[in-house]
Amino acid sequence: MARFSALKIYVLASILSTVHAVDVSVPLLAGPSTPKVSGSLISLSIEGDRWTDWTGTTSRNNFFFNTLDNLKQITREPPHIRIGANSEDHTNFRQDTHFAQTVFPPYTPVVPYPEATNITVGDSYYATTRFLPPDTHVTWGVNLGSNNITAAVLETRSIVKAFSSPEIKRAGIVLDYLEMGNEPDLYKNNGLRAKNYTSAQWVDDWLRFARNVSAAAGLSPTSHTKFLGASFAGSSHTTTGFSPQAAFAAGLLTGPGKLISTISQHRYSGSFCAGNGGLLQDLMTKSTIRGNLTIFVPDIQATFAQGLDYILGETNSYACHGAPGVSNTAGAALWALDYALFATQLKISRVFFHVGVGFKYSMIQPVTLTRSTLDGSPLPAPLPPHVQPQYYAAIIAAEAIGKTCNAQVLELSINHPQIAGYAFYEHGFLARAVFINSKAYLPESTNRTSVHLDLNFAAARYKIPPMMTVKRLVIGRATDASGVTWGGQTYETSNGRVGGHLKVEHKPIAQGLDIQETEAVLVSFH
Ligand SMILES: *[C@@H]1O[C@H](CO)[C@@H](O)[C@H](O)[C@H]1NC(C)=O
Ligand SMILES: *[C@@H]1O[C@H](CO)[C@@H](O)[C@H](O)[C@H]1NC(C)=O
Ligand SMILES: *[C@@H]1O[C@H](CO)[C@@H](O)[C@H](O)[C@H]1NC(C)=O
Ligand SMILES: *[C@@H]1O[C@H](CO)[C@@H](O)[C@H](O)[C@H]1NC(C)=O
Ligand SMILES: *[C@@H]1O[C@H](CO)[C@@H](O)[C@H](O)[C@H]1NC(C)=O
Ligand SMILES: *[C@@H]1O[C@H](CO)[C@@H](O)[C@H](O)[C@H]1NC(C)=O
Repeated sequence: MARFSALKIYVLASILSTVHAVDVSVPLLAGPSTPKVSGSLISLSIEGDRWTDWTGTTSRNNFFFNTLDNLKQITREPPHIRIGANSEDHTNFRQDTHFAQTVFPPYTPVVPYPEATNITVGDSYYATTRFLPPDTHVTWGVNLGSNNITAAVLETRSIVKAFSSPEIKRAGIVLDYLEMGNEPDLYKNNGLRAKNYTSAQWVDDWLRFARNVSAAAGLSPTSHTKFLGASFAGSSHTTTGFSPQAAFAAGLLTGPGKLISTISQHRYSGSFCAGNGGLLQDLMTKSTIRGNLTIFVPDIQATFAQGLDYILGETNSYACHGAPGVSNTAGAALWALDYALFATQLKISRVFFHVGVGFKYSMIQPVTLTRSTLDGSPLPAPLPPHVQPQYYAAIIAAEAIGKTCNAQVLELSINHPQIAGYAFYEHGFLARAVFINSKAYLPESTNRTSVHLDLNFAAARYKIPPMMTVKRLVIGRATDASGVTWGGQTYETSNGRVGGHLKVEHKPIAQGLDIQETEAVLVSFH
């Protein structure tokens, strides 16, 4: 009888938490072709209209500063910051403007925090760049969309003035790129150009502006600051229509175009523009994450063939600020982590996650909000600055990359549709690994399965590490918008600094580890 109930309990337990075992082979050494990964892999693209909400106007916004500085403390490198996006093509300059004057359209349930349609800025607007953490690399957008060269030149002069100020120079904050125009492939749809606007016409416009803007900025083959090229919303991936390869064929890299050192493209996995959301599981799924990035392989190859660097200069889950219950959730943190890490395997050097005040997909909300980001309804109480779950993706990636400033990362081949894994190398030797279980554990899910991972080390002359430390991103349900913990700690604090006590597991590698649905783990070998 006793044996029978023990068996019954055993059977019941194995039904409740079905554990599948998967063998994962982890190379101990990186090879020369193992992609390098920067400590600022996860960087930020900031909507320009509310820029001073992020930085502060006359004094620093410490909450935002702290969220960036946390990352800098982990990798020694703060995230790179791009400012502009949709706003950059609606911005003009007027010397006597204090910070910015903005005109916002009415908000709607689908777009509770719309972008400004008209932004006028003065010197003080660009000068607040000084509130970013020391050593931040910056990209500023200037206006091409309005087709007003004077506006572009005045903005450029003001940007250059800001970066030559003693405060910004002393802080080591540098202007990497000027970006002229945001998503010019959409100009024909959004009224900024004629309906028949072509890629060749855009190249002509761009080169015409670049002559004046490069002169105003003092750009040269030897200057640190360069142009960022393309910034398209979509891509034909061929030499017709809008794509890097089409732009190269139309002469983008001639004349002042020789001052382009990096090509930027934008990507969203879908859109919420008409108010219909994507499913969280679709976003998180290993194969769709790969599908959304591998489509750029021809564009990346064409870019490398020109000797240029390649970034995703603006990206996030679903366009038009995200889908409610999807983009703002813990599941989206796992998406962001897998997405950014997989991008490294295609030699995308940086991934700029787009953020805006009140945007559903924003990893950081830098100021107090009074209406819901999900439907625009008034909040019962003001919501102070806070991080959203996606912020943990930046923290985890940073910890995995570490402090050497020359880490390498390799996607591990894992024969399981919901388990992704990456190994991280320091000075060529295995240091850490990240695993992600992308099965969405939803409110309606009745059981939470786990997958058991057995780590095998490819035979090498080097000693196999005996022990590992396992740090877990603990998530209640994939749809949770808060309450996520990382190694028992939280960044959901009033000042954006980490709180709580660190909790990790030390165990022999030979035991392997379990990873449950909707979980990410960082394994450190020692
Ligand atoms: C666990 O739940 C899923 C649905 O989320 C279901 O497909 C599966 O059969 C369940 N497994 C067990 C062992 O009950
Ligand atoms: C934008 O705002 C500025 C300053 O308020 C104003 O001078 C300008 O006319 C406006 N532009 C448009 C197109 O409304
Ligand atoms: C742009 O450059 C041309 C040629 O140097 C010059 O004539 C023109 O005034 C410049 N425009 C602006 C707005 O600076
Ligand atoms: C272009 O921008 C300049 C500088 O702000 C402004 O004076 C001028 O009116 C603008 N031109 C048009 C056509 O809007
Ligand atoms: C594009 O459309 C404009 C009218 O919006 C027209 O004037 C122009 O000739 C057209 N250009 C081409 C190349 O078809
Ligand atoms: C991109 O991801 C979405 C889910 O978020 C998926 O529906 C879509 O098919 C993916 N696109 C590609 C090209 O793989």
